[in-house]
Amino acid sequence: MKTFLAAMFAAALAGPAHAQEAYPSKPVTIVVPAAAGGPSDTVARLVAEAMTRDLGQQVLVENAGGAGGSLGAGQVAEAAPDGYKLLLYHVATSTFGALYPSLPYQPGEAFSSIGLVTDVPMTLVGRKDLAPADLGALLAWLKGEGAGATFGTAGVGAVSDLCGRLFTQATGTELTVVPYKGTGPAMTDLIGGQIDLMCDQTTNTANQIKAGEIKAYAVTTKEPIAILPGVPTMAGTGLPGFEITAWHAIWAPKDTPEPIRRRLSASLQKALTDPVVIERFAGLGTAPVAAELATPAALDERFRSEIGRWGQLLANAKQP
Ligand code: MLT
Repeated sequence: MKTFLAAMFAAALAGPAHAQEAYPSKPVTIVVPAAAGGPSDTVARLVAEAMTRDLGQQVLVENAGGAGGSLGAGQVAEAAPDGYKLLLYHVATSTFGALYPSLPYQPGEAFSSIGLVTDVPMTLVGRKDLAPADLGALLAWLKGEGAGATFGTAGVGAVSDLCGRLFTQATGTELTVVPYKGTGPAMTDLIGGQIDLMCDQTTNTANQIKAGEIKAYAVTTKEPIAILPGVPTMAGTGLPGFEITAWHAIWAPKDTPEPIRRRLSASLQKALTDPVVIERFAGLGTAPVAAELATPAALDERFRSEIGRWGQLLANAKQP
């Protein structure tokens, strides 16, 4: 009898056999639903490096481009809710429901929010030998001999595509969309002169503009941005009210347990105070969000409101 009681006591001390393993107990994968070398990839790799230091497990970035990011996002929507496969993407995620009615997942219900990351300005850029010298001349050109100029995007719903839609709607111009698996490869063709224009994030364009590899026509923010002095705003040069930025966030699959979401949000918040992240973001024209925005509640609120906003906007906007 004594042996039996001793065994029971030992088992009680050991805790439940199914006790949750400490999370994370293995590497974590962040899926970026756009090709390597583009703006989303740049943000993800900086954040992943900092989260690796905090979590004590490798945080890996995996690229899965295509269809504006809706394919890669679907990989995470269908993943196990165990905290080992996450999505890092941006405002485009809130457009997939409106633009891809036959998706095998409902973006508004398929994810658990972890937190917002950064809000990246965008730039309207052209190949360096494009004739128009400024936005006014570009608009005139697009209404004349430049009608149907080629415009690189990361596919329907990508933020480069959303910017193009707002631009053609605001200007009454026509563009020929050239979709890529991300604006990383699109940038290669813009620099090579294979396409005429793009609207892309400063995390992908700022260094190329400074190097004279591409021409900057305007920024899409309310105010000019410090790292691109002399580049006017769209709103201030003939397109009043034109504004679009790429808010980035991290999601997990829906039903991811609360303790895991809290642990990931805490790690994200710490990553966003990392001096390397702050410095690299600043050099690319952006900044980490405040800690209270790198939380599930803040992302839930932003995501819900953006799904509604873009649902209305896209009901009117035609393909660029
Ligand atoms: C990218 O990383 O390729 C871009 O974020 C795609 C896009 O324009 O949304």
